[in-house]
Order: sequence, then C-alpha cells, then structure tokens
Amino acid sequence: MKIIMLGAPGAGKGTQAKMIAAQYGIPHISTGDMFRANIKNGTKLGEEAKSYMDQGLLVPDELTVRILLDRVARDDCQNGYVLDGFPRTIPQAEVLDQALTKQGDAIDFAIDIEVQDEAIVKRMSGRRACPSCGATYHIEHVPPKEEGVCDVCKSKLVLRDDDKPETVEKRLRVYHEQTQPLIDYYAARNILQKVDGDVSTQEVFQAILAILG
Ligand code: AP5
Ligand code: MG
Ligand code: ZN
Repeated sequence: MKIIMLGAPGAGKGTQAKMIAAQYGIPHISTGDMFRANIKNGTKLGEEAKSYMDQGLLVPDELTVRILLDRVARDDCQNGYVLDGFPRTIPQAEVLDQALTKQGDAIDFAIDIEVQDEAIVKRMSGRRACPSCGATYHIEHVPPKEEGVCDVCKSKLVLRDDDKPETVEKRLRVYHEQTQPLIDYYAARNILQKVDGDVSTQEVFQAILAILG
C-alpha cells in the first residue's frame, strides 16, 4: 500500500504517518525528517537544505526528488510506504508518478488532513520535537510522559527552528501557493481522501483507518 499524506505544516501528517506505518508495517518516509537528519549529521545536503528550511521556503525540487527516489528504491519499500511531506509541488508529484509508472505501479491513496490556518499557528507553538529520533509531541494535546523528555529515546525535546510564529506564517503561505494545488492533482486521479484534522489524534486516525480498510 502506497500512501501520500497531504496537509498544511502542522496539520498532523507526521503524527498520523507514524501511526499508519505501525499499523500496516510499512516505512514512514518524511523528507523533512531526512533533511533534519542530514543537518544534524553536518552533511553538505543538510547545509543546503537548512538555508531554505530556516526561511520557511521549500528545498529545491531537484535536491528533494533525488533523496526521495533513493529512499523508495530500498528493499523495505517493496510492500509500500507512507510519504509524509512529499510531494509538495506539482513537479515533485509528476516525477514520483513517472518513477512508479515505469514499474507498473501507482500511489493508492492521497490523504489530505484538513486544518484551518488559525488552528495551525496555535498548534505549532506547542509542538516539541525529539532531535534524535524525530518523535513529536504537543505540550497540551500530546504531552510526553515526562516533561521535556522523549518517551522513545529519552532525549531532551526542542522547539524546531522553523516553528517560530513568523516562520510558521511564511510556511503556510508557501503551502497555499505551492502545495495546495496537489489536492486537485490527486482528486483528478481519483485517489484523494479528505479527513478533518481538527479533532483528536485518535479520531483522525480512526477516520484514516476507515479509508484504508
Ligand atoms: P516538514 O518536516 O515536512 O514540515 P511541515 O510540512 O511544515 O509539517 P510539520 O512537520 O511541521 O507538521 P506535520 O503535518 O507533520 O504535523 P505534526 O504531526 O508534527 O518540512 C520542513 C521543511 O523541510 C519544509 O518547510 C521545507 O523547507 C523542507 N521540505 C520537506 N519536504 C520537502 C519537499 N518535499 N519539498 C521541498 N521542501 C521540503 O503535528 C503538529 C503538532 O500538532 C504536533 O505538536 C502534534 O503533536 C500536534 N497534533 C497533531 N495532530 C493533532 C491533533 N489532531 N490535535 C491536536 N494536536 C495535534
Ligand atoms: Mg512533520
Ligand atoms: Zn526521541
């Protein structure tokens, strides 16, 4: 099963993608997490990506497509995957479709998690992320067991560099301009499914499970 998660920054793509991946035993692939891992490891790719991410801009398609296609070519992707944060532009979607078509394959579901911009801005200020394993929390809605500490790996949680309010607003503008057109793109291919993202994480997950079957 090949699934794409769509939705604004902070809509809950990462939160739901992790739950879907665990439920179906398929890898969760987040281009944002891959860029953050490269930044943490001080790679050249990370350095280039960071200059865009910190400004709330998209990393250029060429760079993004390259790391994504490498990743989905690995063995663990044979039974499918859940993509979180990719594609984010029409050209990215086209490259992915072409790569899949060549193998006689296709995306099965594009799930759009809908949340209004005002709710997003509120959510992001409360998000805390684990710099080691990528787990995300929310100080009110999804708190870790021990304040400021990752449940999974016990690392100290941080506020992401791009979660400052000004940067969140910029990311939302970029989302509306460059990523929202993908909703029509996948609707035209009859694989778009919308879920309300402004309910609890468990309720969103139940709605997604009802779609995936
Ligand atoms: P990326 O890491 O993908 O960030 P994003 O899309 O901006 O999304 P977020 O990770 O911020 O939000 P999310 O939807 O995953 O929400 P989450 O589950 O964490 O990308 C970062 C940057 O990398 C981009 O800006 C760009 O520069 C670059 N990049 C990445 N991919 C790219 C690409 N393909 N092309 C070009 N550039 C790319 O949830 C948010 C918060 O809300 C959390 O605190 C969570 O606990 C909480 N929450 C979740 N669900 C609920 C709920 N139902 N109720 C209440 N709280 C909830
Ligand atoms: Mg995410
Ligand atoms: Zn962790």
